[in-house]
Amino acid sequence: MRRICVLAQKGGVGKTTVSLNLAVAFARLGRRTLLVDLDPQGGVGHSLGRDDTALHGLADVLMGRVAPDKGPIRTRLPAFSVLARGRLDPIDAVEYEEALRGGALARALDPVEPGYDLVLYDTPAGLGAITRAALARAHFALVPFQAEALSARSVSHAVRVVDHVRENENPALRLLGILPTMVDRASADAVAALGQVWESQPRVLETVIPRATIFVEASRKGVPISFVHGPAAPEARRFGMLADELEQAMERISREEGAADEPTGQQEH
Ligand SMILES: Nc1ncnc2c1ncn2[C@@H]1O[C@H](COP(=O)(O)OP(=O)(O)OP(=O)(O)O)[C@@H](O)[C@H]1O
Ligand SMILES: [Mg+2]
Repeated sequence: MRRICVLAQKGGVGKTTVSLNLAVAFARLGRRTLLVDLDPQGGVGHSLGRDDTALHGLADVLMGRVAPDKGPIRTRLPAFSVLARGRLDPIDAVEYEEALRGGALARALDPVEPGYDLVLYDTPAGLGAITRAALARAHFALVPFQAEALSARSVSHAVRVVDHVRENENPALRLLGILPTMVDRASADAVAALGQVWESQPRVLETVIPRATIFVEASRKGVPISFVHGPAAPEARRFGMLADELEQAMERISREEGAADEPTGQQEH
């Protein structure tokens, strides 16, 4: 089982869109995949569940309303499950965020994660405590990069945090890649921003996600693009290419570095 943490310093750069569509692409490759929504704002749609009663999620597990093994909801894709944000009374928001960054996260996730090949963490914007707690449990970090002027700096901040967590908390953590997203090749700004990040960062992925309105339409419904437009849509196929590239990168990194230690965050109780 491998855990991939999707993180970015900036909000609205496509973390949730990437997490959701990538999770679906891995599931279509036959990997048992769990997407965990660690954003207290709850970006991953409940409409993914197979029935309307499946409204529960991580908040319900952390608040003791639902047993950990009942947290994930099945979707119409057999290999793809989602641990959604769940029902959260605004009054409980502070306790919820404290639980997410503390040992309670391990108590909620340790019992379920071993049943999957891949676990993806969608994190809130910023490089705060929840993102740090996710990195402490992860094997790999994936940093979406919105290709526009001035965004290269925020990528280097995210990479620094990944390095810091590896050095101080979780020696098993590796940077999987920087993923250019919302790429508009007709925009000179976007092309310049891409050039900047290619020059300054060693692990920029070959696959890039183009800017396309079908992402906006699908995320309004809270579903992956292939649930709206089918797996053959060019954008869905792009995520298939990304899943292939990431699998190869994970293999290569694991081979080069020998058998990685288990993330230290996992033992935290
Ligand atoms: N490749 C894309 N092309 C066009 N629009 C996109 C693309 N990816 C994401 N979007 C849109 O941009 C908006 C923000 O995307 P998303 O919610 O995935 O970002 P985020 O980083 O998770 O945001 P937050 O920081 O609020 O969690 C959404 O409306 C989404 O539909
Ligand atoms: Mg999000």
